[in-house]
Amino acid sequence: MEKLQAKKCRRVVLVPFPLQGHLNPMLDLANILHSRGFSITIVHTKFNFPNPADHPDFQYVPISDGISNWDISASNLVRLASTINTNCKDSFRKCLTQMMQQQQQDEKQNDQVACIIYDFLMHFAETVANQMSLPSIIQRTSNAAALLAFCKLPRLRAEGYDCLQDSTSDELVPGLHPLRFKDLPTASMGSLDNFLQLIAVVCNTRTSSAIIWNTTDCLEHSSLTQLQEHYNVPFFTLGPMHKMALAKSSNLVIKDDNNCIEWLEKQAPHSVIYVSLGSIATLDQKELTEMACGLANSDQPFLWVIRPGLGSGSDAHLPEAFQELTGDRGCIVKWAPQKDVLAHPAVGGFLSHCGWNSTLESISEGVPMICKPYFVDQKMNARYLSHEWGIGIELDEVMQRTDIAKAIRRILVEEEGSRMRQRVIALKEQIKHCIKEGGSSYNSLNKLVQFISSL
Ligand code: UDX
Repeated sequence: MEKLQAKKCRRVVLVPFPLQGHLNPMLDLANILHSRGFSITIVHTKFNFPNPADHPDFQYVPISDGISNWDISASNLVRLASTINTNCKDSFRKCLTQMMQQQQQDEKQNDQVACIIYDFLMHFAETVANQMSLPSIIQRTSNAAALLAFCKLPRLRAEGYDCLQDSTSDELVPGLHPLRFKDLPTASMGSLDNFLQLIAVVCNTRTSSAIIWNTTDCLEHSSLTQLQEHYNVPFFTLGPMHKMALAKSSNLVIKDDNNCIEWLEKQAPHSVIYVSLGSIATLDQKELTEMACGLANSDQPFLWVIRPGLGSGSDAHLPEAFQELTGDRGCIVKWAPQKDVLAHPAVGGFLSHCGWNSTLESISEGVPMICKPYFVDQKMNARYLSHEWGIGIELDEVMQRTDIAKAIRRILVEEEGSRMRQRVIALKEQIKHCIKEGGSSYNSLNKLVQFISSL
C-alpha cells in the first residue's frame, strides 16, 4: 500500500524566479528529476517566461504577476523579488487548488503532486504550499558561501561592523575566511530596509523540508558543513546541475548565436578569451570603451557577448577604430551558447562577472577566469576563484584598458595562466567524480529521489 502511495506521488511543481541565472539551474533540476521518472509542472510568471517548446514533456502553467515592462537591472532586483512575492501568491493558490481538484476528480491519475520546489527568492510558494498542506523544498540557485555570508550580515552589523554599505576594506571578515569586507553583498542595490528584508527571506527556510543546492561538496565542503550545522533540514547537493542534466535549459529572451562556434573552430587551442557579463550587469560608455580597448590591445583572439542592454546608455557604442584594429581576431555575438563555448578547446580563459552559473560552467570545463564582479554574490565568487581556488585573476573595481589587456595576456600567454589552467583542470576532474556513479552529487540525487518519494 505504501509503495502504491509513493508511486502515485510522482509530480513535482517547480517555481523558478524569472531571470536567466535562476531559470537555468531550475530547468536543469526539472530535467534531472524528469530523467528519474517524475512528471514536471513549471509554474511561471508571465513576465520573462521560458519557452515551453524547449521541454515539450513538461507542463507549463502561467500565473499572473501584475508586471509589465520591468527594467531588469541590479538596482531593481530586490524590488522585483518583492513585487513578485506580493503579486503571485493568490494566482499560485488558485493554480494549485485547480491542480488538486483535478487530481481528486481523476483518481486514476498516477502522478499526484509530491511537493513544490521553489527558487529561494519565490518564498510565496512556500506560504501557499504550507496553507494547502503540501510539502515544499527550497532550491538554492547560488552557492553555499554566499548564503553563509548573507546569514552572518545581521550579526556583524549588531557587532558594530559597517558591513551593509559599500566597503573598500581589505580586512578579512571574522568567521568568513577568505572574504574581505569589500567582497560582501551590500545594500547598494536598493534601500537598506529592502535589503534587510531580503536577508531575512534568504536565510529563512520557513516550513520547507529540505534545501537543494546547485553546488558540490568538492568546491564548498566547508561552507556546506557550517550551514548544515545551522539548518535543521537535509541538504541535497546536486551541482553542477547543468552537468547532471541530460537536456539543455532554455533561453529567456535571446537566441544562441551558434556562428561563434564556427569562428572558434578556426582558432588555436587555448588562444581565445571569452567575454560575457551574464544577463543583468551593465557597462556605462566609459567601461564599454575600456573593455573594447583592452581587448584590442591584448592582441589575443576574443569572443565577446554584447547582449542588448549591456551598454547602459541609449547611445552606447564601440570605439570607431575597434573593428579596424581587431578585424577577424574578434567575434561579437548578442548571446552565446555559453556551455558549448566554454567546452571548446580554443577557449583559454573567461572574462566574467562571476555569476554562480558562469563560475560553475567555467570550472566544469577547466577554463581559468578573469573576474570583473558587480553585485550580490559575484564579488564573493570572484574572491573564491582568485584566492581560494587559485584559478582567477581579479580586475580592479575601476575598469582600465591596460589592466584588461595585461590580465588577458597573463591568462592566455604567460606561465601563470598555464598554472591556473592546471589547477582548474584538477577541479574539473574532481567535479567529474562528484557527478558520476558513487560521487557526492550522484549519491545526493539518489537520496533526493527517495526523499521526495517519502514525503
Ligand atoms: C544572476 C546573478 O548575476 C548572479 O550573481 C547569481 O549568482 C545568479 O543570478 P546572471 O547575471 O545571469 O545571474 O549570471 P550567471 O549566474 O552566470 O547566469 C547566466 C547564465 O546565462 C549562465 O547559465 C550562462 O551559461 C547563460 N549565458 C550567458 C548564455 O547561455 N549565453 C550568454 O551569452 C551569456
